[in-house]
Amino acid sequence: MQIILCDSPEQVGARAADVVEARLRQGPTVLGLATGSSPAGTYRELIRRHREESLSFSQVTAFTLDEYAGLKPDHEQSYHSTIRREFVDHIDLPLGQLHTPRGDAADLVAEADWYDAAIVSAGGIDIQILGIGANGHIGFNEPTSSLASRTRVKTLSGVTRADNAGFFPEGEVPRLCLTQGLGTIRDAKQAVLVALGENKAAAVRSMVEGPVSAYCPASVLQLHRRAVVILDPEAASKLT
Ligand code: F6R
Repeated sequence: MQIILCDSPEQVGARAADVVEARLRQGPTVLGLATGSSPAGTYRELIRRHREESLSFSQVTAFTLDEYAGLKPDHEQSYHSTIRREFVDHIDLPLGQLHTPRGDAADLVAEADWYDAAIVSAGGIDIQILGIGANGHIGFNEPTSSLASRTRVKTLSGVTRADNAGFFPEGEVPRLCLTQGLGTIRDAKQAVLVALGENKAAAVRSMVEGPVSAYCPASVLQLHRRAVVILDPEAASKLT
C-alpha cells in the first residue's frame, strides 16, 4: 500500500487525477468510479484536464461501485444520476460506456451477479477510485463484510444511513443497496483511495495500520498489490 500525504484537498485531487491520467494515456481503460464527496476534487480536476488539456475519456468503460436499492437510475439521488451530474456529463465518455447497477431491478440478486460478470467481461477494472466511510467501509461494504465478497445486495448500516440522511426526505433513506464486493474491488488492477478531513482519520488509521479485518473493510487494501492511498493532513492526522 502506497501512502501519499498531501498539503491540501486540491493536491489530493490533483495527485489522484495524475494516476488516472497516466493510465488513460496508455490506451483503453476500464475505470471504477466512487461517488460521494471524497473523489469530487479528483473529478473536477479530470474535467479541467479534459477541457483545457484535451484529456479524452472516449476509450473509457466505467463501472460505478454501488447504487441504492429501490431507486430508478434517473432518481435525483441515485448514484447513476450523481456520477453523471458530477463527472460523466462533463467529459467525452459515451453514456453507453457508463455502467451502474440497476437499483430498481426486479431481481436484485440476479442484477448483482450480472454486474459482477459484466466487470469481468470488460476485462476487469484497471483503476478503481475509492473513498472511505467513517466506519471504514469501501463501496457499501460495511464492517463485517466478507473480505472475499462479490457484488451483492447489502443492508446499509445505521451510521451510513445517518450520513446519507441529508440527501433524502425523512423516513426515505434507502435500507438496501447493491455494491461491488471486497473481492471484486481487490480484483481491480490498481486502487486509488482518497480521504479528506478529520472525520476520516480514525478509519484511515485502521485501514493503514490496523490488522486486515472485516471490522475495517478498507483494510483489505493492505492485501492489494497496487493500492495508493492519497490523504490530506486531517485524514492523515492519526497515522503514527
Ligand atoms: C460511494 C461509496 C462510499 C463512499 C464513502 C465515503 O460510491 O462507495 O464508500 O466512498 O461513503 O463517502 P464520502 O466521500 O461522501 O465521504
